[in-house]
Formats: sequence, structure tokens, C-alpha cells
Amino acid sequence: MGATFDFTGKVAIVTGGGSGIGEATATEFLRSGAKVAIAGRKADRLEAAAEKMRKTTGGEVFCCATDVRVQEQCQALIEAVVRHFGRIDILINNAGGARHAALRTAPVESWRQDMALNLDSAFFCSQAAYPHLKAAAAENGQAVIVNISSMAGNGGTTGCGGYSAAKAGLQMFTRVSAAEWGPKGVRVNAVAAGMIATPLAKANWAKTGFDANASAAATFPLRRPGEPEEVARAVLFMASDAASYITGETLIVGGGPTIKGMIDTDD
Ligand SMILES: NC(=O)c1ccc[n+]([C@@H]2O[C@H](COP(=O)([O-])OP(=O)(O)OC[C@H]3O[C@@H](n4cnc5c(N)ncnc54)[C@H](OP(=O)(O)O)[C@@H]3O)[C@@H](O)[C@H]2O)c1
Repeated sequence: MGATFDFTGKVAIVTGGGSGIGEATATEFLRSGAKVAIAGRKADRLEAAAEKMRKTTGGEVFCCATDVRVQEQCQALIEAVVRHFGRIDILINNAGGARHAALRTAPVESWRQDMALNLDSAFFCSQAAYPHLKAAAAENGQAVIVNISSMAGNGGTTGCGGYSAAKAGLQMFTRVSAAEWGPKGVRVNAVAAGMIATPLAKANWAKTGFDANASAAATFPLRRPGEPEEVARAVLFMASDAASYITGETLIVGGGPTIKGMIDTDD
């Protein structure tokens, strides 16, 4: 598919950009003309993804090994990107993931890790990036943060209580940061993904015997899991000028509302 949006001259950071939804998002930004920094813990995974992106898009990718649960490392990421590219226009807080633990017995460490990875990380990166986003907005009219939440943050998921609470918190962080930073031209939105067939998700489904196609067919109006690129395109929309009057919102990309009916209405 050709580029839908034009991000020429813009610099985007995608945390967790070495795989899955983050990799798809970074690739779409590059195809649309942006320069992109990707961050994650494993330098080799980042470099391998960056090499693939350079080959497929011809774009400029900068890798920065970062643990987004650690505030100092988030600050260092932002400083490294500014040193490398000279500016930041777009921050995508995508790194995240769920631990599986029933609340009855969940260890406190599991709860804290869900909060650290899915919620603290967005606060750390956003706070560190804000002065640079504000400067970019003063120059260009707007700068953007997009936080990657989950439908678990809307409806909740049993066995993922910490993750669900953290992703719901991320949606509220989105609203409050949008309200505080909107006057300076920084828009903040969230994209809440549903069941997305990333390579790691597919490997987990295979390992646990979870039939994602059957589950999606029984649950979602669109009857299938989503693809990482389908989330990426929603992220690019939120980051683009096409969304210039949208801030503080959460866009669900999940194949439709999970409503239960009483009679079969399918034709
Ligand atoms: N896939 C889905 O079905 C789905 C559904 C709803 C929401 N989401 C959300 O979408 C986002 C991306 O998910 P995904 O499925 O694409 O995940 P993924 O393929 O597992 O990728 C997660 C990425 O985050 C990075 N990461 C993990 N811990 C990190 C840390 N402490 N510091 C820095 N980077 C870290 C990983 O790299 P390293 O391991 O190298 O650090 C990896 O590149 C997450 O926020 C997730 O909660 C996904």
C-alpha cells in the first residue's frame, strides 16, 4: 500500500519499535517520509529490525537501547534522539505487554511490572520529550504523542488485572496530558488495540493452543484478529495533520464492539 500521510521533515520515536505493532508503526512512518528512532531493551533485535526497515523503505532509522521502565534511560533516549536527529515531533509510547496472573494470587512484583512497563514508561518518556515537542509545535504548529493502549483497558481482561488497570490508566494519562499540553500545541491521543496477530502473539497462541481465529470469529463483528499494520495506520492517522483537532481521545482498533445479542441477526 502507498503512503497515505506525509511526515517529511518530521522525527518520530517509537518505543518497542523492534517488533510487532511498534515495528509496523516505525515502518509506516518511514514510508511516509519521517526519520524514526526505535527503542527497546535488546540492541540486536533493534538493529535487525532497523536493517529490514532501511532495506524496505530507504528511510533513516536510529536505534537506542532503552529500558522504558527506568526514568533515567527514558531521559537518555530523548537526549540521544535530539543529538542524532536535532528534534522530536512525534512520540509513540508503544512498548508494553501483559503478565498473566490471577488477582487472587498475583505477586506484587507482577502488578508493579505491569504498571512500570505499560504506564510509568509513558509518563517517563512523555515528560522527557515534552520540552522538545513543545519546541517543535512552536515551529510547526503541532507535535504529537500517541500512547498504545489495549481494549483490556476498556473492557478488562481476566488473568491480566494489572495490565488492564495499567492500560486504563494510560488512557487517563492521555486525557490529562492532552489537557495540560494542548495549549502549547502538543496533541496526545491513545490507540487501544484489540487482538492483533503480531509474530510474538502468534507464537504464544501456538504455544498455548489458543485458537485466535475461532475466538475472534466468535467475538468480533469483523470475525478475525487484526494485523499490526492495521494498528499502525490508525497511529499514523492520530499523528497526522488529518487529526489536527483531535486530542485526549482513545481510538479503538479492535474489529468492532463486543456486544452480545439474543437472536442470530447474521444473513
Ligand atoms: N498484540 C496484541 O494483540 C496487542 C493488543 C493490545 C495492545 N497491545 C499493545 O501494543 C503494544 C505493542 O505490542 P506488541 O504485541 O507489538 O508487542 P511485542 O511484539 O511483544 O513487542 C513489544 C516490544 O516492546 C519492547 N519492550 C518490552 N519491554 C520493554 C522495556 N522494558 N523497555 C523497552 N522496550 C520494551 C520489546 O523489545 P525488547 O524485548 O527488546 O525490550 C518489543 O520490541 C504494547 O503496548 C501492547 O500492550 C498489543
